Amino acid sequence: MKGVVFTEFMDMVEEVFSDEVLDDIIDAAKLPNDGAYTTVGTYDHEEIVRLVVALSEQTNIAVPELLEAFGNHLLGQLVKGYPQFFADARDAFDFLSNIDGYIHVEVLKLYPDAELPKFFHEQLSDTHLRMYYQSSRHFEDLAIGLIKGTLAHFQVQGNVTKSESQWQGQAAIQFDIVLND
Ligand code: HEM
Repeated sequence: MKGVVFTEFMDMVEEVFSDEVLDDIIDAAKLPNDGAYTTVGTYDHEEIVRLVVALSEQTNIAVPELLEAFGNHLLGQLVKGYPQFFADARDAFDFLSNIDGYIHVEVLKLYPDAELPKFFHEQLSDTHLRMYYQSSRHFEDLAIGLIKGTLAHFQVQGNVTKSESQWQGQAAIQFDIVLND
């Protein structure tokens, strides 16, 4: 996992909790490099899982809830870092439908060693987009936060639910994104 994900996570912990909480969870997670990440470096994704578990133990907030909050925060940072991707999109569904075929493709050109999930989508109606997520890293709750952040960015309201599903015979997590009329 790219170091930028770690540095964004640590910034969020400092901002939402405190410097002390960040120091405590870095200790508790027993990281190989004591929490010294560079944005361009690449690290084992298990290390972010250890940080999130440590934060959950420290704050009594469940891991999925923390991952979702982090996804929401990350989306705000992506808007600042990559404004063109958002400006190019017609609306929230157009943006989300382009992650796999365009946005993450561009990401891979910038960071050839990025480990990205696969997304497939079906637009079921004007207000219902179904996405399928496949990744050995199982960051579906992070994805939900990113999706909810996307809805907020495009100033639409709706619900996101997840369920276990399949895409072309392979296990996948299904997200149903339904906008309010
Ligand atoms: C401007 C928009 C976006 C950019 C530039 C971007 C870029 C990235 C980057 C750099 C990574 C890290 C790869 C690594 O650590 O090796 C990543 C991972 C990921 N991205 Fe995106 N992303 C964007 C939007 C989104 C959105 C909207 C979603 C949600 C539907 C999403 C879902 C994910 C997930 C879940 C991961 C974690 C890796 C995994 O699950 O296997 N991304 N993305």
